[in-house]
Amino acid sequence: MSEYRSMATIKLAADLQKRLVCPEFVHHQGWVQIPTVPDQADPKGILGKAFTHDGNPIGNRFAVLPMEGWDATTEGKPTDLTKRRWHRFGSSGAKLIWGTEAVAVRHDGRANPNQLLLNETNLSPIADLKKDMVEGHRTAFGTSSDLVVGLQLTHSGRFSRPNRKDHFEPLCVVENPLLDGRYNIQSSEFMATDDELDRLIEDFIRASVRAQKAGFDFVDVKHCHGYLGHEMLSARHRPGRFGGSLENRMRFLREIVAGIKAKAPGLGIGVRLSIFDSIPFKPGANQIGIPEGQPRDYDLAFGPIDPDYGIDLTETVAFLQACLDMGIRLICTTAGNPYSTPHLQRPAQFPPTDGYLPPEDPCIGVTRQILATASLKQHFPEMLFVGSGYSFLQDWLPQVAQTIVEANMVDMVGLGRMILAYPDLPADFLGGKGLDKKRICRTFSDCTTGPRKGMISGCFPLDPFYKVMPEAEIVRSYRSQVGH
Ligand SMILES: Cc1cc2nc3c(=O)[nH]c(=O)nc-3n(C[C@H](O)[C@H](O)[C@H](O)COP(=O)(O)O)c2cc1C
Repeated sequence: MSEYRSMATIKLAADLQKRLVCPEFVHHQGWVQIPTVPDQADPKGILGKAFTHDGNPIGNRFAVLPMEGWDATTEGKPTDLTKRRWHRFGSSGAKLIWGTEAVAVRHDGRANPNQLLLNETNLSPIADLKKDMVEGHRTAFGTSSDLVVGLQLTHSGRFSRPNRKDHFEPLCVVENPLLDGRYNIQSSEFMATDDELDRLIEDFIRASVRAQKAGFDFVDVKHCHGYLGHEMLSARHRPGRFGGSLENRMRFLREIVAGIKAKAPGLGIGVRLSIFDSIPFKPGANQIGIPEGQPRDYDLAFGPIDPDYGIDLTETVAFLQACLDMGIRLICTTAGNPYSTPHLQRPAQFPPTDGYLPPEDPCIGVTRQILATASLKQHFPEMLFVGSGYSFLQDWLPQVAQTIVEANMVDMVGLGRMILAYPDLPADFLGGKGLDKKRICRTFSDCTTGPRKGMISGCFPLDPFYKVMPEAEIVRSYRSQVGH
């Protein structure tokens, strides 16, 4: 059990404010802290205000983050569970749906045998899924003309398990001894050649053309969470066209973007980016997370965190400048890797069963993402930034969201785990109903534990539909075995 005070017990914004700090930023980056958070957020305030981006109207400041369910068929087609999740994304009230969930561009790039796959055969069922989601939105809110929907395209790289849940079939782009050791592979044996990467670029372009046919407004060329696009960015020691300089490490993205522009003109392009990262963490004494070595000796983090010197966003800024030069103005910020640094990416009170207890107050994790995103927004005011990692704020999510959007520290607030637990949060808040406390995500991490144990994902503690499933019982028993 984590030692940090539960968010549900915080009654005053002033008490929350003391926890919304991040040492790296206080000491080294100029942003002192998040402006004063009010005790109540205003449903008639900025979070409900429409705006336009690149000529597209967007009806409010809430976004749905990509949330996989590990519930597609083995051919990569949606099931009723997938359809239910997407429908709930649509009827949440959020006016931007960033990616829906990771969708593989080809079979070998699937993170698990139940990941969606956008091939020619699956185009029509995925198009129907999107149509149903948008229809749900229109029925609930009267219009979908101010709703923007993207599809996240991915290859899972070293984390690919396309055929068996318990068997990695990796495609690596750089050697990483720490991750190799953890997953018992030798990345040199599974290293993608430059020619293989050329072919993968073509697969991303083909999938983008299909996404456009399926009616998506944009594709997210995924560069986060340790999957292939993100690993490319740390390929500093890779020889050849795709390694070494940042320019080479961005060749993969640049060529995909050029192909999309040529073959799917008019399709929007966004990037979900892990804006900082660190050396992998592992459970230490009392199961509390510790770095697996000296952070300073690890040169495979893109946007490295140094405990003494803060976060080095130099390459992150250079990456975004190059995106802007390519005409990409849609960015979703996230951080780290859900397997090796979950506390950076999805701050939680309770870890998943294969994780570690929080090495810091999870509020620090939330604040780190907020402040890093804010400093990037300051560099690139013309880009639309969707932030992530807010679910841990729980009852305080609207108040903090309002504060940071008002301060122009981010454009839209993305909801991940919260959307599984409480998809109507945006609609309830903006409709002035207040929040239904019984549905607020308490970050039990069961939605991560399920798939880590080879099962589907969903909100097992709070969604009545998932609560009664046999999988919920299994997750509960794993949780009790590890003592939380
Ligand atoms: C069950 C689950 C599924 C996820 N699926 C995806 C995904 O498909 N693509 C992606 O980029 N991130 C995925 N994420 C990460 C979330 O989008 C988000 O970054 C993270 O949960 C932190 O945001 P939150 O605090 O609102 O949960 C997933 C997270 C969870 C817990």
